Amino acid sequence: MILLVDFGSQTAHLIGRRVRDLGVKVTIVEPEHALEQIKKLNPKGIIFSGGPASVFEKGAPTIDKKIYELGIPILGICYGWQLTAYLLHGSVKEGKKEYGPTTLKIQDFSDIFYGLPESTRVFESHGTTVYDLPIGFQSIASTGHVQYAAAKHSSKHIFGVQFHPEMYHTKHGRAILKNFLTRICTIGVHPKRLDVQAMIDEIREKVGDKRVMGAFSGGTDSAVAGALVARAIGNQFIPIYIDSGLMREGTIERIKNNFPDLLGMKVTIINARREFLSRLAGVTDPELKRKTIGRLYIELFEKEAKRYPDVQFLLQGTTYADFIQAKGKGKDRSAHIKSHHNVGGLPEKMKLQLLEPLRYYYTDQVRKIGLKLKLPKDVIYQQPFPGPGHAVRIVGEVTPSRLAQQVEADAIVVAELKKANWYHRVFQCWSVMTGTNSTGVKGDGRFYGEVVALRIVTSKDRMTADWVRIPYEILARISTRIVNEVPGVSRVVYDITTKPPATMEWE
Ligand code: XMP
Repeated sequence: MILLVDFGSQTAHLIGRRVRDLGVKVTIVEPEHALEQIKKLNPKGIIFSGGPASVFEKGAPTIDKKIYELGIPILGICYGWQLTAYLLHGSVKEGKKEYGPTTLKIQDFSDIFYGLPESTRVFESHGTTVYDLPIGFQSIASTGHVQYAAAKHSSKHIFGVQFHPEMYHTKHGRAILKNFLTRICTIGVHPKRLDVQAMIDEIREKVGDKRVMGAFSGGTDSAVAGALVARAIGNQFIPIYIDSGLMREGTIERIKNNFPDLLGMKVTIINARREFLSRLAGVTDPELKRKTIGRLYIELFEKEAKRYPDVQFLLQGTTYADFIQAKGKGKDRSAHIKSHHNVGGLPEKMKLQLLEPLRYYYTDQVRKIGLKLKLPKDVIYQQPFPGPGHAVRIVGEVTPSRLAQQVEADAIVVAELKKANWYHRVFQCWSVMTGTNSTGVKGDGRFYGEVVALRIVTSKDRMTADWVRIPYEILARISTRIVNEVPGVSRVVYDITTKPPATMEWE
């Protein structure tokens, strides 16, 4: 078993998942309970996660230094490494901030970097850096800006890395964690399989003879969640689709035509397009926008639920990435990034109990579950689409005309990527109404219209993303079509920012 100390990182759960995927048990603990839990559980290794604080900040989370004396292997990641260096009297300072991909040059291949090439791509996200190593430590890898991007103690099994091996965009991240587990902690690894039948049994047990209403968005997550519940409880399930008008072109048709077959039952459709637009009138703050949409969804569900007095559960296709990005309240140390409508925006006194069978799964796992349930590939491999839909892709107020522009521009992006066989090669692609105007010339006249941005990204788990080096000809076609076909658009630009530091959505 591995003990994972969570210093509030967005990716602490991801570290846990990477380790569990290798068939090794993980217990996640708060820093202040780490020593007592280590003594109680006797883990074979300890991992310190990253975290948003700086070690010298007032109130920054810390651990009991005795942990370093126990002889148990330790791997400190980002904040976990800085804290280790700080507590063992190295020097840690505010340094050059590094966010996103960078090249790691490895000097020592004997332990955690066993079998890796001399240089490899890693993902970093830090503003604090280790400047002087504590006594007994030596550097094992560096980057262009950071000399001690990775270090080890020469006799104790203590390792530190400045970058994030758990992130998918760190090319050899899995190998680094596996090396730590097998070579340093001497644990055998046995990659794990998904047990869909166990998920279905669990839902049946939890729900008993009660009824469940299902919140559909038309996307993969809610379709997979719905199919799981339909298999588990059959007609006790009431699938509903609230048509907000904020979804992609073609969504409502798909819900009407494909979903009844997919679930083996009829889907109730509630047309609420007008209501969403009127609630969104005048709302420009992104968080308020998310919450407004989230609240209206729930209100409409609650109203519908009154027609079924025996309904006790509300099904949502929330995945772990939705949940982790929306956390950050109460005791939780990770920073609050966004209120995903299906998590952070829920009213406090919701009358239905939530059923979230995918809560601990990432997108790639959800797709595997969908495959095991034999759902059609176009449902499983469609791109994820945010719950608040186009509203968070329209910077500023969502008006009927801007929504129409966005739906049209987005449909062009999707159609052109499909035509060029690129749609399935990217994680997500979409357009953004940026809220900025620019001058153009149409015909012989001056024209002042909105700038549309294109966002096309790769990602595996939504926690990190890179922009796609899409062929220029495809970008050119999209640009020409949008400025010609979408009224009121003057210009198209391409967003070339990684996550981190940017998030994928603009709002
Ligand atoms: P960000 O912008 O947070 O996006 O980097 C990460 C992933 O989450 C999707 N996203 C959402 N999904 N409800 C959702 O169900 C939301 O409120 C929401 N906001 C963002 C986004 O499309 C990307 O895949």
